[in-house]
Amino acid sequence: MGPPDAILGVTEAFKRDTNPNKINLGVGAYRDDNGKPYVLPSVLKAEEMVKQKNMDKEYAPISGVPEFCKLTAELAFGPNSEPLKSNCNATVQSISGTGALRLGAAFLQKFFPGNKEIYMPNLTWGNHTNIFTHAGLPQKKYRYYDPKTVGFDFKGALEDLSTIPERSIVLFHACAHNPTGVDPKPEQWKELSKVVLKRHLYPFFDMAYQGFASGDVDRDAFAVRTFIEDGHKIALAQSYAKNMGLYGERAGAFSVLAENSDQAAKVLSQIKILIRPMYSNPPIHGARIVANILGDPSLKQQWLTEVKGMADRIISVRTSLKSLLEKEGSKKNWSHITDQIGMFCFTGLNQQQVERLINEFHIYLTKDGRISMAGVTSKNVGYLAHAVHQVTK
Ligand SMILES: Cc1ncc(COP(=O)(O)O)c(C=O)c1O
Repeated sequence: MGPPDAILGVTEAFKRDTNPNKINLGVGAYRDDNGKPYVLPSVLKAEEMVKQKNMDKEYAPISGVPEFCKLTAELAFGPNSEPLKSNCNATVQSISGTGALRLGAAFLQKFFPGNKEIYMPNLTWGNHTNIFTHAGLPQKKYRYYDPKTVGFDFKGALEDLSTIPERSIVLFHACAHNPTGVDPKPEQWKELSKVVLKRHLYPFFDMAYQGFASGDVDRDAFAVRTFIEDGHKIALAQSYAKNMGLYGERAGAFSVLAENSDQAAKVLSQIKILIRPMYSNPPIHGARIVANILGDPSLKQQWLTEVKGMADRIISVRTSLKSLLEKEGSKKNWSHITDQIGMFCFTGLNQQQVERLINEFHIYLTKDGRISMAGVTSKNVGYLAHAVHQVTK
């Protein structure tokens, strides 16, 4: 018997609990203010559009639904960006963000000419380790999260990126770093870009939360676009799980930027050769939903408003949690709750405190003290603040 998944196991324990006050802060899926899963109205409209088009259910090309790939690359890079104008991107549809990372890992394992080790931020999403291990890419860490400040270790990251072997692969979370919620500031991204360029490192961006972090898809693409403007040829994993709420539809994309359109065509051909024995071709329904949203200016506008609504709700529960902790009488500094961004808050709670939250208060979270802000609502935030104060005072 294998062990349960560290994150999905939390939900299983939550489901078994019969206490009426129980809260699930483990899983990274958005919930509305009633704690219910949220299907975006723009997604429902797009589904209606797909239905009316009476489309067939034939296989997609190996690289996915073409319109989806085109619009997805535009969303990431910007419609007038240089790589798109010169056709330098090789973009394929993937099985959501996880599948994009897995494809990227397979591609780099086979073709990366430099040091075939991937440097990941310390800390990073648990599944990154599994994905790169599965593809046979050894991993190392660069400094990222500073437990003392519960913030970004900018100096440590710069030092490490300046000393790791040249021509190594470096993984970056484009925005809303998971699990810490700690992102570099725009000026810090610019510095990181310079070091990466100087040392000929290869940036692989994981952008699983575009729009979900700040509520603005362009703002959340700042790091990716800054690197591209600086001349980096990046690899990119994208996901529509969070920003369109298409979790189970598995809609995402993997892109590689090449030197020119000829090289991009060659890269694309090799990615297709990798995809064919893995899953042949990707699912069509989610991709059609995305293509209908992004391809229709008024529906796209509606979606952008809905993404902002989700991001704003998360930002507002962060503010409530912090102020309610202060009202409870907590003397600890909780400013990281509002400084951090995206779905997760890295509370700084230790394992014992986490265990007390679970056993005494029926509040479920991962052992590292990460809470999914999406599980916090105006109704349970008071109970959560009370419980956190009890275990930390
Ligand atoms: C950092 C990060 N990358 C990628 C993903 C991929 O998610 P999915 O495969 O559901 O798109 C997630 C989801 O939690 C994530 O947090």
